Amino acid sequence: MSKIRVLFVCLGNICRSPAAEGAFRKIVTEKKLIDQFYIDSAGTAGYHDGELAHPITRKVAKEYSIDLTHFSRKFIVNDFEKFDYIFAMDSFNYADIISMAKSPKDKEKVFLFRKFDPSVIGEPDVPDPYSGGIDGFKNVQEICLRTSEELLNWILSNLKKLN
Ligand code: 4NP
Repeated sequence: MSKIRVLFVCLGNICRSPAAEGAFRKIVTEKKLIDQFYIDSAGTAGYHDGELAHPITRKVAKEYSIDLTHFSRKFIVNDFEKFDYIFAMDSFNYADIISMAKSPKDKEKVFLFRKFDPSVIGEPDVPDPYSGGIDGFKNVQEICLRTSEELLNWILSNLKKLN
């Protein structure tokens, strides 16, 4: 069976999308489903190409036993081919990704990540923690963990509908 390919996308690919990648990987691993998934993250800007996630992102992730080893990379048009699901961390990232889509099929793969957050209030954006303190990074990691639970359930329910 081919793997389910899931991509998380923010702006710099050093704070929010690596946190989401790590959270989703943790939950999928705990449910013993990791062999069925290919999980990655990317940024709409290439500001931090080749860098590990932000030191505070990694420190906070570690507190949840999540090891972030991803190196930042830019989102590219070929990602529409490579992935089944593309989750944007905020509405700007979403608009940037959609603007690169070449077909309706590409666009159908793109979702706002936080639409799956069971306790979101207001705009379904993951707030950018880059210029703030550690509390913002902790908030992001917690959003990513609870949203990833629901995301996985949704992906699995889609699979059932196909079968
Ligand atoms: P991210 O956060 O999109 O969650 O990775 C940011 C990282 C870097 C920058 C902005 C946001 N930056 O301007 O370099």
